[in-house]
Amino acid sequence: MEEILEKIDRSRIPKHVAIIMDGNGRWAKNLLLPRTAGHKKGVDAVEEVLEAASILGVEALTLYAFSTENWKRPTEEVSYIFKLPKLFYTRLIDKLMLWNIKIKWIGEITKLPNTMQKLIADFESKTEKNTGLLLYLAFNYGARSEITATVKKISQAVLDGELAISEIDEAFFGTQLYTGENVNVDFLIRTSGELRMSNFLLWQIAYSELYFTDKLWPDFSKNDFYHAIFDYQQRNIRKGGL
Ligand code: IPE
Ligand code: IPE
Ligand code: MG
Repeated sequence: MEEILEKIDRSRIPKHVAIIMDGNGRWAKNLLLPRTAGHKKGVDAVEEVLEAASILGVEALTLYAFSTENWKRPTEEVSYIFKLPKLFYTRLIDKLMLWNIKIKWIGEITKLPNTMQKLIADFESKTEKNTGLLLYLAFNYGARSEITATVKKISQAVLDGELAISEIDEAFFGTQLYTGENVNVDFLIRTSGELRMSNFLLWQIAYSELYFTDKLWPDFSKNDFYHAIFDYQQRNIRKGGL
């Protein structure tokens, strides 16, 4: 592990990293376990990545935990996934404070059960003053839903006379999304070998570098994160220029 860490150029760490944490079900299936065991083990990988991102000084990390399409899954699986934020809280709150991580939930939060909304509020207020890594937890998140909600919010401001149409440009629109001023994702990682976006951060990834790995999410470690960052640093990022 030390070796790869030493190769990383600390002056060129991507500011905003986003991860599609995929492959929990297949991880469990490979071990003849129920899919829920994979979701539970996935929390270990979240801990790994939070520590690694903090060590490297990543400014913002967005983790895709539950999509607006994941409601299509069997009720038992959805119910299990809904228990994980509490487990995450109990297990990791001390470390989040130690690592100075601030949490913000993004997605259709108001459509979540009240108990969950309360937990989200607790999470956010407890970590509010932390100044290290900003963790956006995408739960009941969908990019199209986010963009639609943003269009509605802006339209309302125009109707209320608080905003002129001429003030709406790309920069302004971007800051109105859930990710606020961290609108540009520099580096996007997807585990489990799937090569698609699954309705994640569609506006924010306009110029992201993409990284796909066959590792299943529960197996993803600090070392895997460092390897991904090292790979990012070998790329020639042009953003349309030369
Ligand atoms: C990702 O793992 C977690 C969620 C989508 C909630 P999956 O549950 O999608 O695992 P696979 O893709 O079926 O292996
Ligand atoms: C994307 O994974 C959503 C999350 C990781 C939370 P899915 O497993 O739901 O995506 P598809 O079904 O492969 O597109
Ligand atoms: Mg999946």
